[in-house]
Amino acid sequence: MNGTRKPIGVIGTGYVGLVTAVGFAEIGCEVYCVDIDPAKIAMLERGEVPIYEPGLEEMIAANSSRLHFSTSLDDMVAHARLLFVCVGTPPTHAGDADLSAVYAVVDAVPASADHVLVMKSTVPCGTGRTLKRVLAEQGKGSLAYVSCPEFLKEGSAIDDFLHPDRVVIGDEGGVAGDEVEALYAPLRAPIVRTDIASAEMIKLAANAFLATKISFINEIANVCEELDANVIDVAEGIGLDHRIGPKFLQAGVGYGGSCFTKDVSALKLLAANSGYHFQLLSSVIEVNELQKRRVVAKLQRHLDPLAGKRIALLGLAFKPNTDDMRGASSLVLASRLEAEGALVRTYDPIAETEALKVMPKLDCADSAQDVVVDADAVVLVTEWPEFLELDWSTVAGAMRGKLVIDGRNALDPEIIRAAGLVYEGIGRA
Ligand SMILES: NC(=O)c1ccc[n+]([C@@H]2O[C@H](COP(=O)([O-])OP(=O)(O)OC[C@H]3O[C@@H](n4cnc5c(N)ncnc54)[C@H](O)[C@@H]3O)[C@@H](O)[C@H]2O)c1
Repeated sequence: MNGTRKPIGVIGTGYVGLVTAVGFAEIGCEVYCVDIDPAKIAMLERGEVPIYEPGLEEMIAANSSRLHFSTSLDDMVAHARLLFVCVGTPPTHAGDADLSAVYAVVDAVPASADHVLVMKSTVPCGTGRTLKRVLAEQGKGSLAYVSCPEFLKEGSAIDDFLHPDRVVIGDEGGVAGDEVEALYAPLRAPIVRTDIASAEMIKLAANAFLATKISFINEIANVCEELDANVIDVAEGIGLDHRIGPKFLQAGVGYGGSCFTKDVSALKLLAANSGYHFQLLSSVIEVNELQKRRVVAKLQRHLDPLAGKRIALLGLAFKPNTDDMRGASSLVLASRLEAEGALVRTYDPIAETEALKVMPKLDCADSAQDVVVDADAVVLVTEWPEFLELDWSTVAGAMRGKLVIDGRNALDPEIIRAAGLVYEGIGRA
């Protein structure tokens, strides 16, 4: 590809930072990456990738000559003008976004009219305005600032980066926004140019809308269960309406992941802090929390009491093709089941290491075949492809009980029943 593009900087080499870095390297940029975590940088320098994202390792290897890793900003500042900020903004205990990593970056960058901070991290609407004031107070007012929120999805992040639905660029005029637009030009994506606050709000509103769609279909699924209707057919029937669309209409055990949970909560609190009660989002969050717990009620209905019962969880990651455990429904499920005295065993093909960091006492099996042995019930939590190909007759032979709860409506009820098992999905008559 074109090797004459200008070098860029990426601050924070997590999911967003690494994908952004390798994506821009793929379209010809030299990319200077910085992270405060020396272990992560050492791994990347050895060609190892600290996270699981399909295709990432191969693409990093293919672009290794254009990727530079360091714990210091010096090389980046010397070579690159556009500095993409991709640090984490996790929730605080109060549910707002913790911007301490963003402020650490602001403190660390030098005063310079030759650099642009391009905010990829998801930040509350109004953050850009505050950061510009802080930069001015630190004598760094000449540093330009652009908001360019990221919309990639873990599991398909590289494709999302290279083929985005849109690129949103918020700025206050000047050349910095144009430079970011020019950088993205080879991707030929629709570009939305706006002010900084609106760009920040687009990101939060997009995630809040998607989460609302999921909570909506989960509520419909729960009503379907009461009325003997099938949510899969209902979702198809409403999703074919172009005004609605079929995506994010899969009923299940609730949304998880680092983004929906924290961004919906952050938007709700952002509104509340400015005096507005965002009633709809309160319901979206509550519905999601209840949805994660509904599986426990289903298990109780079949196996009461749960104390002493062996429950096998297929999948831990918040969705397939990622090792990310942030906000994963499996964590709530495992904790609630353990609190009821159930004996929980789990298996995930990729996310076990991350899961053990959050729940060190999790009992993890070595394989899907192993986890179901002597189980009274099996719960599909993450629809990894290998779980969809299980031989259910073999599973039935290995289990102690007969119950299969399909938390993602991803299994074929006929096949499960033909194996002599009892199938229960989410909102499936
Ligand atoms: N993960 C997603 O799917 C996704 C999608 C869109 C947007 N976002 C947003 O992008 C941002 C980053 O998310 P992520 O999932 O990549 O987070 P992450 O936790 O995977 O990565 C953040 C990285 O930043 C590094 N870091 C922290 N402070 C730093 C500093 N002062 N200097 C340099 N590096 C520093 C951390 O060591 C870590 O490697 C968040 O605001 C998130 O909401 C995430």
